Amino acid sequence: MVEALPAKGVPADQILAELGDLRAADLPTHGGRLFAYVYDPAIPGLDELATTAYARSAHVNGLDPTAFPSLLTMENALVGAAARLLGGGPGTAAPDVVGSVTGGGTESLILAVKAARDARPEVTRPRLVVPATGHAAFAKAAHYLGVALDQVPVSAETLRPSVDDVRAAIGPETVLVACSAPSYAHGVVDPVAQIAEVAASAGVRCHVDACFGGWTLPYLRRLGVPVPPFDLTVPGVTSISVDLHKYAYTPKGVSVLLHRDADLRRPQYFAFAGWPGYTMVNPVISSTRSGGPIAAAYATLRHVGDDGYLRLAEQVLAGVRGLAAAVSEVDGLRLLAEPESTVVCFTSTGSGPDLFVLADELAVRGWHCQPQLSYAGLPASIHLSVAAAVAPRVAEFGPDLRDAVEAARLAGPVRLPAEVLALAGALTPELLTPELVANLAAGLGLGADPAADSSAGPLPARMALVNTLLDAVPLALRERLLGEFLGLLQRPTY
Ligand SMILES: Cc1ncc(COP(=O)(O)O)c(C=O)c1O
Repeated sequence: MVEALPAKGVPADQILAELGDLRAADLPTHGGRLFAYVYDPAIPGLDELATTAYARSAHVNGLDPTAFPSLLTMENALVGAAARLLGGGPGTAAPDVVGSVTGGGTESLILAVKAARDARPEVTRPRLVVPATGHAAFAKAAHYLGVALDQVPVSAETLRPSVDDVRAAIGPETVLVACSAPSYAHGVVDPVAQIAEVAASAGVRCHVDACFGGWTLPYLRRLGVPVPPFDLTVPGVTSISVDLHKYAYTPKGVSVLLHRDADLRRPQYFAFAGWPGYTMVNPVISSTRSGGPIAAAYATLRHVGDDGYLRLAEQVLAGVRGLAAAVSEVDGLRLLAEPESTVVCFTSTGSGPDLFVLADELAVRGWHCQPQLSYAGLPASIHLSVAAAVAPRVAEFGPDLRDAVEAARLAGPVRLPAEVLALAGALTPELLTPELVANLAAGLGLGADPAADSSAGPLPARMALVNTLLDAVPLALRERLLGEFLGLLQRPTY
């Protein structure tokens, strides 16, 4: 039983032992066998340094940087480092770049959209143009901020939008055009220079979402990889975001949002003096925020250094090439995109294995990848985010992949029970009742009580059934079902 507020306090070592038990059910954050969520540089001592720095600033409050100048100093240093890496700073074409440290990529994107919306107060129905491969956080930003989302389709071959389609999507109410460098799902860099040009000629801001692989692209370029222009060196790019908690390998909770100049950043800020307390001035969404992530990021960047990030990018490159080769050698699998950044993404050919079963078979063998559902003419795929720690594992991956493919072929695709299919086919989000959701969840093995047995996660060991169902239903039902399933898991324990 997990009880957060026991009648009598529990000794520290017992709590740490309990935490260890809880963490045992998690996927492995280190070791290069988890291809999503986490980024392991495998640098000895770095974790210890980052968590010590984190602990020292954990109680420092970013609410007021004048009260805690240590945070202001470290934030400005992080922004400067990101600016330099992404083509800005003294002596560059973007000498006046300014920025903010945010809590993550989603927050950076919400703020980029907010800044663009609030810079155009005369537009009563603001709109955001983004390729369909743009991160879901743009949809969240649009939803939260009352901005309409105009998704531009991408080609099934290049996984990029056509620049003409982007141009056609821009209208008088468009306040922001966005693109990715690279996209999360496929690791593909959009034609940033052309999109920025089209946006600039329409007088519209252009945000580059480099949250995911943006910290690695400049280093890949230095290693000879052909990386197209994507950063502040590109005229027309007005803002760019990069997550430090991804390929800068810092602990979670740090992203940087850069604007080409202070005028562009101004509408990002929120200020309110109309109450009797302190005048609230926030550059980011949170008001009180811990200094821990910022101090940990500062320590990480200083310790790894520019030369260290170059070496890490070299390892990522080796990992990407090794994994891509392993995939290409397997009959029945096909790379969805030629890897050009930090992602290997593959799909199954007509005669290939069921991808959702394959993902489960890989998990059985200790490789945790991210299945991606089919969408708008793009097939279901398997996503591998490749961090530096993956490189030494590549030789083990190939044989396990072949083995897993064989097992998936033998097992065959998951067949949804006829009654589940019939139910799902007749459902619309409006028809979902709590009872229907509970029945579906039970049928799929979801929602086991996480408190009942801390060694087992709340999800079934095999997810192919769930993924097959979600893949078969319309997008609105996917969203609603997943929300409902999550709601079932998020229940208080007493
Ligand atoms: C391209 C891109 N943008 C934005 C985000 C959102 O970042 P976060 O999960 O840190 O909010 C991600 C996360 O994977 C991403 O890959």
